[in-house]
Amino acid sequence: MSVIHVKDLNYSYEKGKPVIKNVSFDIEEGSYTTVIGHNGSGKSTIAKLLLGLLEKESGTIEIGGLPLTLENLGEIRNRIGIVFQNPDNQFIGSTVRDDIAFGLENHCVEREKMDGLIEEFAEKVSMTEFLNSEPGKLSGGQKQRVAIAAVLAMNLGIIVFDEATSMLDPTGKRDINRLISQIHKENKLTVISITHDIEEVVQSDNVLVIDHGTVAMQGTPEEIFKNEKLMVRMQLDIPFVYKLKNALAEQGIKLADTLDMERMADEVCQYALKK
Ligand SMILES: Nc1ncnc2c1ncn2[C@@H]1O[C@H](COP(=O)(O)OP(=O)(O)O)[C@@H](O)[C@H]1O
Ligand SMILES: [Mg+2]
Repeated sequence: MSVIHVKDLNYSYEKGKPVIKNVSFDIEEGSYTTVIGHNGSGKSTIAKLLLGLLEKESGTIEIGGLPLTLENLGEIRNRIGIVFQNPDNQFIGSTVRDDIAFGLENHCVEREKMDGLIEEFAEKVSMTEFLNSEPGKLSGGQKQRVAIAAVLAMNLGIIVFDEATSMLDPTGKRDINRLISQIHKENKLTVISITHDIEEVVQSDNVLVIDHGTVAMQGTPEEIFKNEKLMVRMQLDIPFVYKLKNALAEQGIKLADTLDMERMADEVCQYALKK
């Protein structure tokens, strides 16, 4: 069942300069979707439209079957959350603890449950020792950890992560991605992740490729990376294994459906022997 339904969405910041053009897509409940596209293609704008943070010009947005309208905004925000690209936009409290608490209060979490949740999620993102620190004094990566904890603690059905781990080092990124994947699996959280991390794209169920405010492609990673020409034209990277598979396919060598380098090497050897 699709939990997000977007049809013929249009938006412009300035009159006559459309930024989002007839965008349509569906997102399955409980799926992990990655959104890719070069800078300025409209990814963050689409994210903000989904949350009702920007008002669409025309088109339909439905979240869990509920149309996104002014009257439904409260209910929509109980279903979908966002972690912004720039965590500074997300802090309101004077301490990390207040900040996570603020989101929980807005979602009517009972006081008795709040401290437990704050501590549980601060620990999950390795920020326990900073609970009484001022958010403004944290590093970019630490701010991103707190912003992620705050949204995860709310236990929403859908979360949009807009380049939410961009300031973390590779190890930190891997840890946080693992945490998000785990919650996605355990709680059937629908994840929409705007990312430049090609490995994350490979792991996702579904990929949305945005180009100049339109959906250039939507499909499984396999389907997306087969279309190397389009990816190159949009200056998007594709993983080495797919480059290899595509190059071999062009030579008429079709490999079994695997991304395992060892199995691929075996197959190439067997092919060479047969020749
Ligand atoms: N607040 C704004 N006012 C005017 N133009 C904007 C604003 N925010 C973004 N844009 C423009 O809209 C386009 C899409 O931006 P954005 O959605 O942020 O792209 P992405 O997230 O893919 O990098 C860009 O051309 C950008 O310059
Ligand atoms: Mg962006």
